[in-house]
Amino acid sequence: MIIREFQRMDLFRVHEIEKETFTNPHEKNILQWLYDIGAGFLVAEEKNLILGYIIFSLKKENQGHIISIAVDRKFRNQSIGSNLLKTAINILKKFDTKIIYLEVESSKQVAINFYNRFGFKKNEVLKNYYGDGSDGISMHLKL
Ligand SMILES: CC(C)(COP(=O)(O)OP(=O)(O)OC[C@H]1O[C@@H](n2cnc3c(N)ncnc32)[C@H](O)[C@@H]1OP(=O)(O)O)[C@@H](O)C(=O)NCCC(=O)NCCS
Repeated sequence: MIIREFQRMDLFRVHEIEKETFTNPHEKNILQWLYDIGAGFLVAEEKNLILGYIIFSLKKENQGHIISIAVDRKFRNQSIGSNLLKTAINILKKFDTKIIYLEVESSKQVAINFYNRFGFKKNEVLKNYYGDGSDGISMHLKL
């Protein structure tokens, strides 16, 4: 398995994973736009198949933001998500990032545990963050 930068040809497959994973998936053009505006965008690939991806950004004042991470459900619990997140954190560190923020659905305990394992701490509950009544949790990791 390799972690590499997203390329335009990956868009269909990344969007497929996004749709299978999230109730409110990003549209294809939004994913492409995130890449075009310079967000970090990495994919995990094995035998020419994209297994997962992470999108992240560097904001002002040395703040990073994890925008999205997902692994095809058939390939979860094989450390692919950890490798993607580790790589993104290392890139953000190189840009002198001091703190990384993210938001996660409060019902996604697997994802919350995953982030806790990396040392992310809970900030606050974001009421109706997803617009469909579901709450979010904001988390941060100090580097
Ligand atoms: C969160 C997510 C990206 C994690 O991806 P993943 O590839 O399954 O992550 P990992 O395999 O690195 O880690 C998952 C768990 O598997 C365990 N694991 C890793 N390798 C393992 C192995 N070889 N054998 C058994 N367990 C293993 C890890 O300990 C980890 O457990 P923990 O996080 O509860 O401590 C994935 O579950 C996902 O796509 N979820 C849906 C989308 C989502 O919720 N995204 C986050 C919100 S934006």
